[in-house]
Amino acid sequence: MTILRPLIIATFAFLCLAGFLPGPLRPDSIGARDRIGERQGILRTSRHIKASLQPRMVNVTRTPTITTTNGTFRITPRWGKEGLFAFGAGIVYMLDLEIGTPGQGVSVILDTGSYTMLVNPDCIRAADEHACEMYGHYDTGKSATAQYLNSYFVAQFGTGYMEGVWYNETVYIGQDSLPLPDSRVGVNTWSDYLWAGVLGVSYGMAWNTGYPTLLDLLVSEGYIEVPIFSLGVGYQGGGSSSNIIFGGVDRRKYRGYLEPVEIYPKPSAQIELYEQVGYWINLTSLGITPPGQEEETLTDSDFERMMLIDSGSTYTYIDADLVATVAKALNAYIDDRGVYFVPCESRDLDGYVNFGFNYGNMIIRASYADFIVDFDDYCALGIQPADAGVATWVLGNSFIRAAYIVFDQQNDAIWLAQYSPCGDNGISDLTRDAGRELWLDMTGLC
Ligand SMILES: *[C@@H]1O[C@H](CO)[C@@H](O)[C@H](O)[C@H]1NC(C)=O
Ligand SMILES: *[C@@H]1O[C@H](CO)[C@@H](O)[C@H](O)[C@H]1NC(C)=O
Ligand SMILES: *[C@@H]1O[C@H](CO)[C@@H](O)[C@H](O)[C@H]1NC(C)=O
Ligand SMILES: *[C@@H]1O[C@H](CO)[C@@H](O)[C@H](O)[C@H]1NC(C)=O
Repeated sequence: MTILRPLIIATFAFLCLAGFLPGPLRPDSIGARDRIGERQGILRTSRHIKASLQPRMVNVTRTPTITTTNGTFRITPRWGKEGLFAFGAGIVYMLDLEIGTPGQGVSVILDTGSYTMLVNPDCIRAADEHACEMYGHYDTGKSATAQYLNSYFVAQFGTGYMEGVWYNETVYIGQDSLPLPDSRVGVNTWSDYLWAGVLGVSYGMAWNTGYPTLLDLLVSEGYIEVPIFSLGVGYQGGGSSSNIIFGGVDRRKYRGYLEPVEIYPKPSAQIELYEQVGYWINLTSLGITPPGQEEETLTDSDFERMMLIDSGSTYTYIDADLVATVAKALNAYIDDRGVYFVPCESRDLDGYVNFGFNYGNMIIRASYADFIVDFDDYCALGIQPADAGVATWVLGNSFIRAAYIVFDQQNDAIWLAQYSPCGDNGISDLTRDAGRELWLDMTGLC
């Protein structure tokens, strides 16, 4: 496979060009670093931010009351978040933040499928009232730094709705609780179905917003050099850490090289088509390795499917006929709502579901143990049928667990490698030369 790399350079011109494109405007990095050093009272030498994630289960006990709305400000209009109520439960990855002065602890869902920070859903209408109450509440009245911005938002998540008001506020993030003044926080006034706050980490100022989002602020404050972050959510059921690294890559979380996959359609085309930009990439094959058997490809050689990488989604969603084939191989059974379930014992089998990118150059193999979603007393198939006729193909957490994923807003690319953890001290910072660094220097150490 390595031999094929020079050929891909030619195919993926976006990478070669990246070095010549002007970078985003940002303050002089040395000045910025000094400024942070002063504020922290320490001299910062590293330029990445690491934050830990916790897998969290939600027990869905309620159906949404609102399914469509005409928002004046839409956050995820057509990229359906899943209607989890059909499944009974879901699994997402949450990150702890502190909001305000003094800091108030709030846990939010890390969501690569949306792009802004929204907190305080109404627990009484939440899908899971009990879970909702555990995740903390931000009280603007108890913060010395809360600034009301006198404007409001309406956010529609496939299923799930929130309206509220905007605040500028200091948000603390990561293991060192770094302060981000003037962060935009959407504070709920009325919501339906959402059971926790959301931290969207898709494109911000570059395409989707008129204000800087978290990733934009990390760059403009000089905490990190480039708008790039890496995600390794870890094995299902523990045994490995779960982290997001802003501005860097943890080379002790994957093996082999990182394969660049172009965001498609290009951001400029997405804006025209969808009025917003997300992490869409082409999947070019889907296959399966049944226990003790040879790997087999289920798709035709010309298969291409645009998929949204969405950590807010428990499942991967694709065409119903493909799902049926995978389901058959895993002895899944379908219920009367069209949801596939699997006996939990199948998680112990040595099988894989395989996702191919760039026409076979990178195959991410999701073990049954990670792919089959475990809700303790029952298990669901990690892939479920997308709504007929709607472009809601999603690579959700059943896929994300198997990959180490670098979300690169500088080169408009997603870099993929097989997740394979081997320790915790492999973090390398990325610089404005990140395209070349990711291409040549960031081979996995595992
Ligand atoms: C949304 O707006 C469209 C056109 O502006 C209108 O036809 C439709 O009835 C509205 N739907 C709701 C739920 O208000
Ligand atoms: C979900 O339900 C299961 C079984 O009913 C229970 O063990 C678990 O604690 C619940 N989780 C949450 C977050 O409430
Ligand atoms: C809110 O924060 C933005 C930057 O995120 C800043 O440009 C703006 O001036 C702030 N607004 C107020 C009212 O402080
Ligand atoms: C993605 O797939 C579409 C549909 O088959 C194709 O037209 C497009 O060229 C592909 N894009 C990339 C970057 O491979």
